[in-house]
Amino acid sequence: MQADEWIIAAPLSERQALPVVVQPRVPGLALTHALAGLPALIETALATVGGVLLRDFTLDGVDGFQRFAASWGAPLLPYEFGSTPRTQVVTGVYTSTEYPPHQTIPLHNEQAYTREWPMKIWFYCAQAPLQGGQTPIADSRRIYQKIPLPIRQRFDRHGLMYIRNYGNGLDVPWTQVFNTCDKTVVTGYCNRHGIACEWKADGELRTRQVCQATARHPKTAEWVWFNQAHLFHVSNLNPEVRETLLEFLAEADLPRNVYYGDGTPIEDSVLDEIRAVLAEETVLFPWQTGDVLMLDNMLTAHARSPFTGPRKIVVAMADAYSATAQV
Ligand SMILES: [Fe+2]
Repeated sequence: MQADEWIIAAPLSERQALPVVVQPRVPGLALTHALAGLPALIETALATVGGVLLRDFTLDGVDGFQRFAASWGAPLLPYEFGSTPRTQVVTGVYTSTEYPPHQTIPLHNEQAYTREWPMKIWFYCAQAPLQGGQTPIADSRRIYQKIPLPIRQRFDRHGLMYIRNYGNGLDVPWTQVFNTCDKTVVTGYCNRHGIACEWKADGELRTRQVCQATARHPKTAEWVWFNQAHLFHVSNLNPEVRETLLEFLAEADLPRNVYYGDGTPIEDSVLDEIRAVLAEETVLFPWQTGDVLMLDNMLTAHARSPFTGPRKIVVAMADAYSATAQV
């Protein structure tokens, strides 16, 4: 049985290839990995275009989503060394980042601020927002190509040093990030993952890690922009918050920040140029309840638009990749 007997696959629009929109010929068809030809069609679309939007299928809620994501063959990953607050809904399925609805979450590849990340990420829209709340996406290969060469070269020469200070009411506490109350467990995790950790006099934790700015996709061999400098850099704070924080905190104690890998500051103007490229490449589409968005996490970045009213998007990740293991 061929996939096109069951389903229709088409670009989002005439001018926009990402994501490939896959719909059943008969709306309401149950979404399962067993659907003839569907896995091959999706894998091809992921490896070329970078993302697939599965729409108008039926799925048995969050449990059905969990089964669908797990059916791709790799165990669903826990949200380890996370950067934002999330709650596990069922095993391997998490709420999307629990930031206040009025906030924008900029484009990012999941866990690009560290050396290990999921290759696959799925989003399931259990409840579509009434207004806003899209999950914008963007092609990380195009972003790589459009970042001005001097910036890319400078980022690549040194890598990026991410510094995080946990807790203190300003950021996610280390107990939540590492899912333990045991400091020795945290130290062990950091040692195993190339993260420098420092317990401060007040009992709080600071970590530092030098990571990639760009990366080469292990299957397609394409280069992608792969970092979260624009999220971690102090310029991501609104100017009033930045000023207030720096009135009572040393820069080294900011909840999060990023430097060139040699420890020198990254200029605000550099981040402005990066953000301009990200804005140009942003692809936006409205969620429909029941949608599943599946992305190659290296080829495609994702974000969150502000919203009003209820919105329930859950996330699953799989297929861990370790940059450290490749060195
Ligand atoms: Fe994310």
